[in-house]
Amino acid sequence: MNPEVNVLDPPALFEATAKIFIELANKAIAKKGSFSVALSGGSTPRKLFDLLAALPPAMIPWQQVYFFWGDERHVPPDSPESNYKMANDSLLSKIPVRPENIFRIRAEEKDAAIAAREYEESIQKYFRLAPGELPVFDLITLGMGPEGHTASLFPGTTAIKETQRLVVSNWVEKLHTDRITFTFPVINHAACVLFLVAGKEKAPAIRKVFERPSAEVPASLVHPTNGRLIWMLEGVAAAELPRNIAS
Ligand code: 6PG
Repeated sequence: MNPEVNVLDPPALFEATAKIFIELANKAIAKKGSFSVALSGGSTPRKLFDLLAALPPAMIPWQQVYFFWGDERHVPPDSPESNYKMANDSLLSKIPVRPENIFRIRAEEKDAAIAAREYEESIQKYFRLAPGELPVFDLITLGMGPEGHTASLFPGTTAIKETQRLVVSNWVEKLHTDRITFTFPVINHAACVLFLVAGKEKAPAIRKVFERPSAEVPASLVHPTNGRLIWMLEGVAAAELPRNIAS
């Protein structure tokens, strides 16, 4: 399935992304009574979360939404660095989500590998996975760094080579820290992956993503096997894209 590429400027970028989120959530809930979504971290999603938090409650049956994360920093949940904290402050604390529907990565755990293993086990339990089976998330939202990392899959790290595990921790030399992250097998097994990318500093990596897949640009290796791939790009982030790609 070819990527769906949308180039919009704020606020339309976030409004259109929220609209897709609402559509996917209601479709999944109508079909099977639940919507599993993995949130991305960093700063870009905050404006999306603000919009979702401000929706009239009837727009999304929040009680049937199950929240996961694509990655987490190795910090406690009250750290300003925490992806959980950002999502909780801007969205989760403002909607009627059931606490048992929030699958937080316990990144306060001293050993990041233990946190990764525990999170992996919670995913296997939620999706009732047999050994070796991959989960099908209804939606995985991702961001992208200026050098093309996504989730916490950074160029030159061990996590980008992982083919068996669902979640791993690994040392990210560039940041001098451990990170906990989904692996490519999980991301590429989702029903829908949506990248939300803003900022002119992302334009060179976006060009490389669409030029050719490369481990040097991990985001370019995201291609759901049987799912949709949606790129929501701010104009300046798409500035180096060939005209025929940017819709
Ligand atoms: C993280 C994210 C990461 C993020 C990109 C973009 O934990 O930081 O998961 O992959 O999406 O770094 O971050 P910004 O949205 O802040 O540019």
